[in-house]
Amino acid sequence: MNDHDKVKVTLGGVPASMLGPLWGRAQVSKEYSSLFYDAKAVELVERIDYDDLTTSDLPFTGIMLNIIRKGNLLPMFSLVALMAKQFDEKIKAYIAEHPRASVVNLGAGLDATFYRVDNGTIHWYDLDLPAAIDFRRQLLPEPDRVTSIAKSLLDPSWCKDINTEDGVFMIAEAVFQFLEESEMKQFFSMLADNFPGGEIVFTTMSPDQGFREWIDMFPPEQRDAMRAAWKEAMKEWWEKVPQDQKDKAITALKTPTKPKDTEWSDLEAWWGTLSDEENAGALRDLMTAFSNTPSGRVGMRAPKDANEFIKWDSRITVIDQVPLFRNVPQDLLSADMQRLMDRFVERGGWNIFHLRV
Ligand SMILES: C[S@@+](CC[C@H](N)C(=O)[O-])C[C@H]1O[C@@H](n2cnc3c(N)ncnc32)[C@H](O)[C@@H]1O
Repeated sequence: MNDHDKVKVTLGGVPASMLGPLWGRAQVSKEYSSLFYDAKAVELVERIDYDDLTTSDLPFTGIMLNIIRKGNLLPMFSLVALMAKQFDEKIKAYIAEHPRASVVNLGAGLDATFYRVDNGTIHWYDLDLPAAIDFRRQLLPEPDRVTSIAKSLLDPSWCKDINTEDGVFMIAEAVFQFLEESEMKQFFSMLADNFPGGEIVFTTMSPDQGFREWIDMFPPEQRDAMRAAWKEAMKEWWEKVPQDQKDKAITALKTPTKPKDTEWSDLEAWWGTLSDEENAGALRDLMTAFSNTPSGRVGMRAPKDANEFIKWDSRITVIDQVPLFRNVPQDLLSADMQRLMDRFVERGGWNIFHLRV
């Protein structure tokens, strides 16, 4: 496809985060098709203009994707994409028991799980913020039995849109890191009120991870290249954004010190003085400042153990805590991917939980 025929990304803020996992699923499908194959992701990545993501409207995702490309760090998103395997297995097991169930894909982004698991009788719902659903509709049709819902998952009215006759199974992949803990609690109570007996599988991500921690996950010989790539990508973006965005980002910093001024050189010099903890906090502050939508929060300090959710609402029961990379045969992966996978598991920042509400 010619570059000028590609779909321009018109998303900003939180919805733009959908571009990362989509890219990872396409990449994994190309590199490890025997492990996981997502034909739609491969097709969509071809159609989207991924080369033009450094606009001021795409701050965080633009920066992340740029770092990953510049630093040749594809394994990072690819690895995250491998988690999609667990979701497929969970959904398939549920719909084997409930062939006409409703499956609700919360924070769907450009996820095409439906096409991988459809049994011909399920009802499928893709729910996301209105801007995200608008973009999704440009790229993905709504086949029979698939309904898009353009609402926040925190808006209780979507619950009435779901057919509850034959069981409800919900998935939320790489979504809850955008919520605060209080919102999550409210959300789970809402699920228990509306879908008693329904099940949900979701990932959580600890927001404590700063770039330094990401960098530490890579083998020492790649870290300098990654640091350089991160700086270059951040600089590229910083120099493009209007002054008011820079001011907003600096104001949002809750760190004990701040950059002297808003020139890139000031930011760079200041960043170098931060402790690891301050670095993670600064990253969180910047992500929040760069995410312009009303629910643009990256806040959740996720429980590390599924039993914690029972304390939130006694109607919740734990079905499973899924190891991140269950059934992923490590020996098929590149040495880089294996190392990265080991670090992910060791650090434990990401989890997959399966609960009944
Ligand atoms: C990192 S993307 C993941 C997309 C998709 N689940 C995947 O795995 O490809 C996060 C998605 O969550 C959506 N999201 C964030 N907050 C939301 C909210 N309050 N309600 C609905 N969707 C939300 C974003 O718009 C975005 O599409």
